[in-house]
Amino acid sequence: MTDALTELSDHDFQLFQRLIYQSAGVVLSDVKKPLVIGRLSHRLRQLDLPDFAAYYRYVSHGDDGAERQRLIDLLTTHETYFFREEQHFHWLTQWLRSGDVDAPRLWSAACSSGEEVWTLAMVLADVLGFDAPWSVYGTDISAAAVAQAEAAHYDEARVRGLPEAYKKKYCLKGVGRQQGTFLIDRRLRDHVGFQVLNLLQAQPQVMAMDVIFLRNVMIYFDAPTKKRVIEHLLSRLKPEGYLIVGHSESLNGLVSGLTAVRPTIYTRVRC
Ligand SMILES: C[S@@+](CC[C@H](N)C(=O)[O-])C[C@H]1O[C@@H](n2cnc3c(N)ncnc32)[C@H](O)[C@@H]1O
Repeated sequence: MTDALTELSDHDFQLFQRLIYQSAGVVLSDVKKPLVIGRLSHRLRQLDLPDFAAYYRYVSHGDDGAERQRLIDLLTTHETYFFREEQHFHWLTQWLRSGDVDAPRLWSAACSSGEEVWTLAMVLADVLGFDAPWSVYGTDISAAAVAQAEAAHYDEARVRGLPEAYKKKYCLKGVGRQQGTFLIDRRLRDHVGFQVLNLLQAQPQVMAMDVIFLRNVMIYFDAPTKKRVIEHLLSRLKPEGYLIVGHSESLNGLVSGLTAVRPTIYTRVRC
C-alpha cells in the first residue's frame, strides 16, 4: 500500500509525537511510526480526510476536544488481563488477611478496560466478603477503555486467564444472544467506581487511598513525567499506604517519601 493514508512524513509524525506527549505524557519513539500509521489510518478513512496533515489539523483545531480524546484512545496501549502479574494479588491477599485496615480503598490508576479493577474486587470479596465496606476505583485517560471497564462485560477470550472458580463465583455466564460472554456480578460492581482521569493532572480531592496500583503505564513516560505523576499520586495515598508498579517498572531514585517493601511494592514513609 502506498497511498496518502499509509505515508506519514517525519514532520507530521513529530507533530503527533508532540501532541500525545503534551496530552498524555506518552513518549512515542521513532520506531513507533508504523504503529501510529496503523492505528490512525482507519480513522482518516472514517473522516474522509486526504492525509495525516489534514487529520493533525482536525485534531489540533477541533473545538470540542472529542477528536483529541479519540486520538488518545487510539495512540495509548491498553493491553491488560485478569490476574496480570499475579504476585501482586498474592501480596494483597496477605495484606488484607493481616487485618491492618478497616475499610480498604484501592485505586487502579491506569485501569484500561477494567480487568485489573475486577481482579482486585474479586480478591477483596474473597478475603472480606461482599458485605464488607471495601471499595475500588478505576481511572484511565482513555474514555473508550473506561466505558468498557464500566460495562463489566467480557467475551470468552478476555476471561481466558481467569481461574474457573472465579468465573463461577464472580461472573454471570451469558446465555442466548449473550452466549460466550461473562458479566461481572452485581455484588462486585456495587463496590466499584470509574472515572476518566489524566494522570498528568492534579488528582481530585477524594479520600486518601490504602493501595494504588499504577502498573504498566510508566513504561510510556519519561523521567520528568514519572516524577510528576508519582508526586500527584502520593498526595492521594494514606501515610503507610502502598503504591504498586508493574514488574518492568521501578521508582528507585525518582521521588522521596517512598520505600520499597519488596520489588515493585512501595510504601509511603510517614513524615
Ligand atoms: C498497558 S495499560 C495497563 C493496564 C493495567 N494497569 C495493567 O497493568 O494491566 C496502560 C494504560 O495506561 C493508560 N494511560 C496512558 N497515559 C495515561 C495518562 N496520562 N493518564 C491516565 N492513564 C493513562 C492507557 O490509556 C492504558 O489504558
